[in-house]
Amino acid sequence: MPQLPAHRIFPTPDAASEALAAEIGDLVSTRASEGRTVVLGLATGSTPIRLYAELARLHREGLSFANVITFNLDEYLGLERDHPESYWQFMHLRLFDHIDIPPGNIHIPDGGIPDEELEGYCAGYEKAISEAGGIDLQVLGIGRNGHIGFNEPGAAPDLPTHVTELNEVTIGDAAEAFGGGANVPRRAITMGVKTILEARRVALLAFGESKAEIVRRALTPGITPQVPATYLQLHPDSTCFLDQDAATQLG
Ligand code: GLP
Repeated sequence: MPQLPAHRIFPTPDAASEALAAEIGDLVSTRASEGRTVVLGLATGSTPIRLYAELARLHREGLSFANVITFNLDEYLGLERDHPESYWQFMHLRLFDHIDIPPGNIHIPDGGIPDEELEGYCAGYEKAISEAGGIDLQVLGIGRNGHIGFNEPGAAPDLPTHVTELNEVTIGDAAEAFGGGANVPRRAITMGVKTILEARRVALLAFGESKAEIVRRALTPGITPQVPATYLQLHPDSTCFLDQDAATQLG
């Protein structure tokens, strides 16, 4: 049975990020006390930056990430790791360089894989997620067009990690960072909606007025491939962490 994601509205992006960081911190330390690992699915974009800063702060206060395994949602295809806009760079700059996660526990799709190896590579990424025990908690942002990861409007619900074409809205939104739309990669590797829905818990962060309309749509009953975030209505345990501005259009 479809059900709407839960949502929590916070006064500021910082407050929302701190709440999710606290939830993640509790999960990490509980698992550590049980001698178990925890598998986190991670997102990029401007939205989770505060979450990662807060996780780094929790680490400085004593939280260890030694038992954490991570899988990132996506990566631009055609970008090597050392490209300043690669998600590999983003994740190291914003999080991994500031915590004690073992480097071997970090998984980010490799944007440098040649075309002929991509199919096997994507299958291997899925296999690695399964072998780690599946994703315990998947962090998501949301594109203005309703994409999650790089699952763009029209995305099928049953795809695992795969190669996808970026949508015009997504290319437009990334243009400034790449110094012009022409420089934005046209393709990406992304976890599929299937991968995301298999996570045991999903936490979607959305901040600011520019996300208010798409948040309203995601939290309105009705699942459509045109708004991939509506697929979260198929997930039994998902929560949107919103600031007040992103929640202005909720009834
Ligand atoms: C990119 C990422 C998404 C992210 C989205 C929103 O396209 N692939 O995972 O959710 O941008 O970005 P922002 O958080 O900067 O609004």
